[in-house]
Amino acid sequence: LSTQAPKGTRDFYPADQKWQNFIFDTWKQVCIQFGYEEYEGPIFEHLDLFTDKSGDEIVTQLYNFQDKGGRDLALRPEMTPTLARLVNQKNRQLKKPFKWFSMPRLFRYERAQKGRLREFFQLNMDIMGTPSIYAEVDLLLAIIAMLQQFKLTQKDFIIGISSRRVLAAFLQQIGIEQADAVYPVLDKQAKISREDFMQKLKECGIDLPLAQQLDEFMQCKTIDQLVPFLQSEPAIMAFKELQTLFAALQQLGMQDYITLDLSIVRGLAYYTGIVFEVFDAQKSMRALAGGGRYDNLCARLGGEAVTGVGFGMGDVVLKNLLEEKQLLPTEFATDPDVFIAVFGDNLLPAFSLAQSLRKGGLKVAQTLQKQKFNKQLDAANACGAAIVLFADSEANTATHIEGKVMATGEQTLFAHEQLLQGSIVHGTIKEN
Ligand code: HAM
Repeated sequence: LSTQAPKGTRDFYPADQKWQNFIFDTWKQVCIQFGYEEYEGPIFEHLDLFTDKSGDEIVTQLYNFQDKGGRDLALRPEMTPTLARLVNQKNRQLKKPFKWFSMPRLFRYERAQKGRLREFFQLNMDIMGTPSIYAEVDLLLAIIAMLQQFKLTQKDFIIGISSRRVLAAFLQQIGIEQADAVYPVLDKQAKISREDFMQKLKECGIDLPLAQQLDEFMQCKTIDQLVPFLQSEPAIMAFKELQTLFAALQQLGMQDYITLDLSIVRGLAYYTGIVFEVFDAQKSMRALAGGGRYDNLCARLGGEAVTGVGFGMGDVVLKNLLEEKQLLPTEFATDPDVFIAVFGDNLLPAFSLAQSLRKGGLKVAQTLQKQKFNKQLDAANACGAAIVLFADSEANTATHIEGKVMATGEQTLFAHEQLLQGSIVHGTIKEN
């Protein structure tokens, strides 16, 4: 029997899970700072939640199956349809607008490659029930705060922003009707040569003069450059929204984090307004996050029209980037404060000392078998304990215990009281 995990999945040994938890904890902390509430849903859903009225690539990547009752089900490839289902189920009871987040485990039968796996985690932040562009502002500020919390700077990532409304209105204005066929070509524009771009437009049935207009439009790199292209009423309205978003983010001092990128169209069919993607600054990796506004998803899934906007940020590319920038921590909040060792054969002094220190609020690990002292120090090192205490040292008194600060190697007597009152961080005793 193979000991390998299935292709595109990961095992999380404790050392890996520590990093994973660091990512989850940071995600959660920033969501809470921004006033988002956590929700969850089932890991599998009815298949038609993902397949109905959807022509997305995601459908070809579904892990679907029939259960023993003959129901067609699928492991969730994304969270947004579940969110829309939750909204549809209790729409009237939900006070809108609301801001929710979730950190689901997702499944996509993708070609496993760097940054893309078949099982991954994805932070979702969504705002439901307001058409206000300030919902987009809130989400984009949260993305920036989140990445800053991971110690990434404007030199490390960039948020590309576009608008499906602007695109759709421009296509309509110049008389291109086959927008759905054109979107995937626009989505590739930044990655292919101009000749290939023109060729693909031709294959969609777009005449050369129109293709040239579209190509010129796609070259716009700033909001101001867009102005001369947009003449129709819907195009101007859509443009104003995009302009308000850029102006707000600029006034909030975020201009270095954002850029207009018309080639961001997004693969998912349900987006209707602002769309955005986050990339590493060199664009050498897959997208770190992506999202946008979806006006019709709730209605398409059988509910009332409730507008939503949100994004998903995967754990895989994020971890790759943090690793590359050497920003993954080496010490964790869950590491034991203290490891208790013994010189002699009797382990019970270690247990009773551990019990009293745990009551005092310390995280305590201890030796579990008779072992050479050096082996116990190795074990203390391996679990990340800041201090080793010697439970049966002859130097111990009624009030003091001998021990060693792991970081400095300094051997000293620790006051029992002080150990019980304070929590030990990085080998120093911090008063509560
Ligand atoms: P998405 O662009 O499909 O959007 O995924 C968002 C992010 O999830 C990607 O940028 C990437 O970080 C991560 N991701 C996607 N697929 C994989 C994979 N196979 N392996 C690793 N990471 C992956 C959505 O899923 C939308 N539902 C997001 C959203 C929420 N839109 C509105 N609200």
